[in-house]
Amino acid sequence: MSILTILEFPDPRLRTKAQPVTTFDAALKKLSDDMLTTMYEAPGIGLAASQVDRHIQLLVLDVSEEKNAPMTIVNPRILEREGTQTCQEGCLSVPGIFADVDRSDRIRLAAQDVAGNPIELEADGLLAVCIQHEMDHLIGKLFVDYLSPLKRDMVRKKLEKQRRHAESSATASA
Ligand code: NI
Repeated sequence: MSILTILEFPDPRLRTKAQPVTTFDAALKKLSDDMLTTMYEAPGIGLAASQVDRHIQLLVLDVSEEKNAPMTIVNPRILEREGTQTCQEGCLSVPGIFADVDRSDRIRLAAQDVAGNPIELEADGLLAVCIQHEMDHLIGKLFVDYLSPLKRDMVRKKLEKQRRHAESSATASA
């Protein structure tokens, strides 16, 4: 298993629209396994292929406390939505930033598993939030897009500052 590099906002590659998966082979299974390893290591509760610069409709998640319930969802489609919930979200592509986002409370989903078998899923609470967040990645959308332009600009500046700081401390310790 390999740890993959996660693209960070405002990298324009995060804006790429993902294509449907049509080939369910060993390479897809390996990508899914590598994405799970990368997600657990980060650590995070969800990761979309878009975030590792693979622009196909594949996402992995695990919202369990024990981190023992990995899920791989391929070609997801929301069939039904109900209600609204507001949750504080973060994103591995926008490190250290958290903000409230409104999402559907319950969703019903049609998708495929990593082997291509059709699955249907009902989700609420954190799982529903996570799926909607990851599905946004597949259409090139980030949770910071729900913020005002002013707030989004503040996020961009904060991340630039964090990166400059990380680079200078890396140089200092080299
Ligand atoms: Ni994210």
